[in-house]
Amino acid sequence: MNFERKILITGGAGFIGSHVVRRFVQNYPQYLIVNLDKLTYAGNLENLRDVEGAPNYQFIKGDICDAATMDQVFSEHQIDGVIHLAAESHVDRSITNPMAFVETNVIGTVTLLNVAKSHWSDFKGKRFYHVSTDEVYGSLGDTGLFTETTPYDPKSPYSASKAASDHFVRAYQNTYGLPTVISNCSNNYGSYHFPEKLIPLTINNIRNNKQIPVYGKGENIRDWLFVEDHARAIDVIFHKGAEGDTYNIGGFNEWKNIDLVNLLCDILDKKLDREEGTSRKLITYVKDRAGHDMRYAIDATKLKNELGWEPSLQFEEGLEKTVDWYLSNEKWLEDVTSGDYQNYYKEHYQS
Ligand code: NAD
Ligand code: DAU
Repeated sequence: MNFERKILITGGAGFIGSHVVRRFVQNYPQYLIVNLDKLTYAGNLENLRDVEGAPNYQFIKGDICDAATMDQVFSEHQIDGVIHLAAESHVDRSITNPMAFVETNVIGTVTLLNVAKSHWSDFKGKRFYHVSTDEVYGSLGDTGLFTETTPYDPKSPYSASKAASDHFVRAYQNTYGLPTVISNCSNNYGSYHFPEKLIPLTINNIRNNKQIPVYGKGENIRDWLFVEDHARAIDVIFHKGAEGDTYNIGGFNEWKNIDLVNLLCDILDKKLDREEGTSRKLITYVKDRAGHDMRYAIDATKLKNELGWEPSLQFEEGLEKTVDWYLSNEKWLEDVTSGDYQNYYKEHYQS
């Protein structure tokens, strides 16, 4: 088949990546979508069962740090666009094993930049899109929002690795003219989210009548965005974002962790027919995360004014949809929390 574009999506078997792959495969039958993923603990082909037979979709198991594999993928598929999401993504894991974050997030990204640069002798019609995080901006006090001009001030090994990769992407644009674009997004939530992260972990623990671990006093604030809204923003930025530019993506939706956990408890009490207040009794304050960033909040005005994107869902509605998804996909939860997850959980929460 003659495809109009041949797009490589890295990390497409992960949480956000699977939503991006699904959106592109379904909305752009004229594009070939090549999903390359290493299938680490966070990657799962079950996340993409509904698109795996599509004629414009291909999956490749591979590591972005492996230059020879990446080179072959570019040659074989004549890749002309990259949406790069592959990463180690969990802050807690970056505290115990920072090297894995340097390898994938920094070395992997630079490997991919090099391969794209060497294959794209002509940069016309090409695009390298790096999907990044608001954590590169550091931590906010009680007021203010991160804008695209907020200076970088990463504070965890995870955010330091993402900041480094952002810098490399900009350096390749500036030095070699590689056509790039970057977005920095706030906390996502929704289906297929690995239950090491706050929202799916809370839902899973309530479902299993297990304690809900809340770090510190539960007063840290995050700005939550429905994952399908993020995938839509990535679509808009990939197609219409200005070359070399950066866009912040966020939900205008700040929540204190403890308020969010309480809300989830109340939603689940209703859905599981439990007496009001039952799940809140599971909340357990545990040792704080080392170097825990206090508050993130994104100003996504530029994306709204320049490219017309806005979040579509109210948080309560998105959260309810999310809870419903986990309750009707218990097998998915059982599968991803068997094996290694149990060891991770024990080591992480009982140390
Ligand atoms: P995730 O951990 O769910 O998925 C990451 C995927 O990358 C997995 O499928 C994994 O197998 C794959 N991967 C890891 N190392 C790889 C390697 N060396 N080669 C190939 N594939 C590899 O992550 P996510 O939450 O979906 O995040 C995706 C991207 O979006 C990341 O770059 C992350 O920094 C960024 N981001 C995430 C959020 C969020 O709230 N989750 C917010 C903003 C930005
Ligand atoms: O802001 C974007 C970032 O959001 C992404 O770049 C990261 O990839 C993603 O993991 C997420 O990082 P956070 O550290 O904010 O997400 P997490 O779900 O791990 O934690 C959310 C908040 O909840 C944070 O303040 C820590 C707290 N927390 C987390 C866990 C796992 C708890 O209180 N208890 C927990 O068990």
